[in-house]
Amino acid sequence: MPDSVSPFTLVDVPGGMPLLGHLGTFRKHPLEALSTWWRRHGDALRFRLGPKALYLFSHPDLAEEVLVRQFDRFVKVYDPQRPTGLALVLGNGLVTSSGEVWKRHRRIIQPIFHRSRMAAMADRMAQVGEQRVAAWKDRVGSTIDIAAEMMQLALEVISQTMFSTSMTQHIERISHALRVSITYAFDSFSNPLFLPLWVPTARNREFHSVMQFMDELMYGLLAERRHSGAHHDDLLDLLLQARDEETGEGLSDQELRDEALTIFAAGHETTANALAWTWYLLATHPKERAYFHEEIDQVLQGRTPTADDLQHLPYTRALFDESLRLYPPAPAVQRKAAAPTTIGGLSLPEGAFVLVGTYNLHRHPDFWPNPEQFRPERWLNGERSSSRYAYMPFGAGPRTCVGLHFASVEGPLLLALIGRHYDLKLAQDSVEPHLMVTLRPKGGIRMTLQPRKVSVVVPTKQTITHASELS
Ligand code: HEM
Repeated sequence: MPDSVSPFTLVDVPGGMPLLGHLGTFRKHPLEALSTWWRRHGDALRFRLGPKALYLFSHPDLAEEVLVRQFDRFVKVYDPQRPTGLALVLGNGLVTSSGEVWKRHRRIIQPIFHRSRMAAMADRMAQVGEQRVAAWKDRVGSTIDIAAEMMQLALEVISQTMFSTSMTQHIERISHALRVSITYAFDSFSNPLFLPLWVPTARNREFHSVMQFMDELMYGLLAERRHSGAHHDDLLDLLLQARDEETGEGLSDQELRDEALTIFAAGHETTANALAWTWYLLATHPKERAYFHEEIDQVLQGRTPTADDLQHLPYTRALFDESLRLYPPAPAVQRKAAAPTTIGGLSLPEGAFVLVGTYNLHRHPDFWPNPEQFRPERWLNGERSSSRYAYMPFGAGPRTCVGLHFASVEGPLLLALIGRHYDLKLAQDSVEPHLMVTLRPKGGIRMTLQPRKVSVVVPTKQTITHASELS
């Protein structure tokens, strides 16, 4: 495969310790480590976590090379025979699988996310959103953890849209199980000294116990649908009806469990974090919050948003895009070189472990004016980066997020829906981003709920679509 990128210089991150390499710094503050090393040492770096060398690429050309041009050479890092990291939780589902299994399962799952289904999905999202907002009535004036609230809201959205069922009665246990299992997965990946699963430590026992709960939940969903024979035209139906073109065989129970859990987990955690970060940005930027309120009041006139409204809510969509830029829920994408290869003039051995630094790309000063500033208007006035791979919150290439359209409807829709009812004020001094597979606000975000008086305004021609109105 020709290497079409102009040459880069590989820098070894200084300060590695014998044996441990950069493990200490990385494990303490993974996001800060990746971002500080990049700012200090450049776009192509190598560092060590124990014996494992990792390459950190933070340039759009290198991202394109790994995820698009040399897609066949840079594969997912998981081995179904010896699961590690996220595969310990998700098994061999769409996020973690490779090769023919991935291709076949992507073909099965993709149609559920077709644009033509989004209007109906949006109605369901809005229903779930209104129920959640109604439940906040008794908490007006008090503080809530908006990150936890968004997690529970997004979880219920995914349950209702993909599995046609409500998970409200299990929500606390599911949130706990996912938090425990994903933290475990991240630690097992980033810490070479991590004890294997069969060692009966308290932590391993806790992991087994939450996974047992999640397995029972997923197998329960499948059994219930099979038993009832009901048709809901949802993801569960698609998975259960899928047949191999050649053998006519359906998916095995293990495959069904892995795909269901993958969509369940990947389909809410990312969007929930994106929403939490957007509320945080709005709470700390009064001018932008005022524009947001003005737009939703003008367009919605006090009613619940639909998918059709989104085209008339450009500022709300820009807020979401800008939030995904500053706080990408997946701040680094991992791959492994399946064979020796060259990228940007750098030789990579077979098995080389690569991180594409999405967080860094999104703040790269060569591609973004005022990269650290929250400027939603950059998405409306042509100020966004001209380099396609300088912005990739949903990844790039054939493994781009299958839920991209879903999330692009869900995010702005729920922002508008909640923003119509409530003004959210920050009730703590600062918020720290924390990388734990996804980018979470460490310890949550305390906010005060204040009801908004929805000002029903007569629509004028001055809807917020032009940058001149925003400066
Ligand atoms: C703001 C929300 C979201 C963000 C930022 C996001 C981000 C991403 C990224 C970066 C990837 C690519 C990972 C890689 O290349 O290794 C990905 C893949 C994936 N996402 Fe999302 N995602 C979001 C929402 C969703 C939703 C709503 C669903 C499902 C309902 C979903 C399901 C998946 C799946 C199944 C994959 C694996 C696709 C494949 O490899 O074929 N995501 N996502």
